[in-house]
Order: sequence, then C-alpha cells, then structure tokens
Amino acid sequence: MIAGLRRLLLLGACAVLAGAVGMSAAAQTQASAKIAATPPMGWNSWNFFAGKVTDKDIRDTADLLVSTGMRDAGYVYVNIDDTWEGGRDAQGRIKTNEKFPDMKALADYVHSKGLKLGIYSSPGAQTCAHFEGTLGHEEQDAQTYAEWGIDYLKYDLCGFRQNMRETAPNDQAAQNKMMRDAYEKMHQAILKAGRPMVYSLCQYGWDSPWRWAPSVGGNLWRTTNDINASFDRMSLIGREQAGLARFAGPGHWNDPDMLEVGNGRLTHDENVLHMTMWAMLAAPLIAGNNLTAMTDDVKSILMNREVIAIDQDTMGKQGDRVYAEGPVEIWAKPLKDGSKAVAVFNFGELVTDLRPVGLHLKELGFSGGAKAHDVWGNKDLGVIKDDFDAPIARHSVLLLILRK
Ligand code: GLA
Repeated sequence: MIAGLRRLLLLGACAVLAGAVGMSAAAQTQASAKIAATPPMGWNSWNFFAGKVTDKDIRDTADLLVSTGMRDAGYVYVNIDDTWEGGRDAQGRIKTNEKFPDMKALADYVHSKGLKLGIYSSPGAQTCAHFEGTLGHEEQDAQTYAEWGIDYLKYDLCGFRQNMRETAPNDQAAQNKMMRDAYEKMHQAILKAGRPMVYSLCQYGWDSPWRWAPSVGGNLWRTTNDINASFDRMSLIGREQAGLARFAGPGHWNDPDMLEVGNGRLTHDENVLHMTMWAMLAAPLIAGNNLTAMTDDVKSILMNREVIAIDQDTMGKQGDRVYAEGPVEIWAKPLKDGSKAVAVFNFGELVTDLRPVGLHLKELGFSGGAKAHDVWGNKDLGVIKDDFDAPIARHSVLLLILRK
C-alpha cells in the first residue's frame, strides 16, 4: 500500500517534472503515438468553404457530424482552416476576425457535441491566404490555442518559404533545415502549452517529410501539393503514394491531403475509388464536403464501416501497390487479423468494363486460392482463384478482403 502510494507520488513528481523541463524523447514518442494511434478522422473547412468559412458553418458542421452519424463513425475533428485570423492585440496575442467572434465559445460548443476542434496557422508571418501567421509568436500562439481548447493544429509552411529564400538564397540544404527547425519550434511550443494537440505538417511533401516529420513531432505530414475535386488530381496523388508505406505507423501518418468525396463533379464511382484509395493508404480521413447538402450516396460512401475499418486498422500498416497492368493497379494492405485488403483499381479511360480481372494471388501472398469478401458489394464471394472474373468499370475499384 505504502509502496504503491510512494510509486504514485513518484509518478506524479515525474509528470510535473516532465511538464516543467520537457518530456524525454521516448515519452514524447509514446504520447504522440497515442494521440493519433490510428489515422485522424474529421472534417476540414478548406475544400468546400475556403475563405468563406464562418463560426456558423463550423457549428452547423458540428451539428451535422452528430446527426448524420459521422461522429459515431469516427469523424471527430472539426478543423477550421485558413482565414479565421484577425491580427494581434497590443500584447501580441492572436485575435480572431469578425467571422469568428469567440473562439473559446466555439470550442466549448464543439466539445459539447463530443467533437474536437482543430485550427490552422503558418510558421511564416502570413498564411497562404495572407492572414496573420505565427512567426515570432510560437509559444504565445500555442498557449492561446491551449486556452481556447484547440485539439489539432495544421501548420502550413506557406509564408515561411519567403523567409527561407531570403535567409539562404540558393542554398537548398539550409532552407530545408530552416523548415525543419520551424516545425520543431512549434512542436516544442505545443508541448510547453501542455494541451495535447494533433500536429499536422502541411508543406506539400517538400524534402521528403516522411523521413523527418516524426522527429519534429508530426502526427501527419502532407506528401503532396493540394488536392482538388477532379479525378485526375485525386488519382494522381493516390498513385504517387506508392513506396511510402514503410514510413507510416501508429502516431505518424502520410497525408495525401483531405478528402474531396462529395465535392465538385466526382461521380459515384470516382468517390468510391477516392475513399477506397485513402483507406488503403491508412490516410487521415478528413472530409471536406458541405454537410448541409450531403446526399445519401455521399453519406454512404463516407460512412462505409468496413472501409473505415480498413483505414483505421490498429496495426497501422499503410497499403502499397503490389503490381500494375497498364491502367490497372493492384494494391494490398495487411490487416491486424491476418487478412488483407486488396483493391483492384481501374484508373483507365476505357469505356468498357474491365474483365476478367486476372488476379495474381501468389503475388498477393495467397497460393491456391483465397476466401474473398467484396467490401462495397457487401457480399462473400467464397474461394476465388487467379481466374477470378468481375467487371471493373472505368474510374472504379473492386475492394476485397482476402484471407487464407
Ligand atoms: C495551402 C494548403 C491548403 C489550405 C490552404 C489555405 O494551400 O495546402 O490545404 O490550407 O493553404 O490557405
């Protein structure tokens, strides 16, 4: 009993000490792995609302995440992107602009719905949309976010690129170091502020962030330039993720950018392919559509439980391309229960259905057949062999769970 009490006191003292002098690297890695043990899921304002987003949009979205069932399906972060910022007061404290009258009250509202609130800034003097950035106010901003009750920070390089170019013209290595240092500075500021926040690095894949982002506290890092709601852009980004699987895992994820499901003119098949690709990539699932006008079709795509489960599989293995045959690509993602998610993508412009599929099961780790479940079709297919035949239309995908 006394020994237990002593241990408890010691642990308490260690926790206080860690807070005061900064956590050990191991403790930090552990804490960060916990906060994003599976790829973060939520919603972000940029892809649909861009610069027009308001406090009301965020409250409406929070309400709808609950009433549509999205929150319960896992979409818990409500992230305000660029254009909330309103300059600084005399003490240098960041202010919100007229679109966001009271950030603390907004955070309280979002939290009251069982959701979490995310925010956006830049290490530069200005953000991408030329609003106030964080440069020179890192600790102060992290502190303010913590006071407001922020749970997630997307930190977008943008304005800081100018500082990099001016400080180290024509010296790429020095610029890269400045970039990493800027991300580490904010990482330390967040730790010092003492409120756990998912730390999302947004620097468009510059300098292979998968190689260093975890070391500056990144829970996710963008691997590409911006997505848009076109099949070409979305599918190009998806395909470019081949080879990045080994850099992702619990606590640290490759981020091929936010979802465009339900935006633009993406067709049903294209939305299904998009959602499948991101799930196979163990990508953060940050929806970006207008929830006030979400169709049942889009709802069913964003909320397919089995597809979400593939993305959120607790083993945290990102899927990768196993082989390609022209425009057809076969990707596999190992799952914790020993099965594999296998996606057969038809990226081609063929008007006719693709058949037969012609799976090379051996290359996928199954010899002599595999038990197959069709995820989007929601049916068991029994044992399939290499001659497995199914129509896969242009811009669509067949998603299977295979097991021995
Ligand atoms: C960059 C980012 C986008 C978005 C905008 C906001 O382009 O990559 O995701 O945050 O800035 O200005």
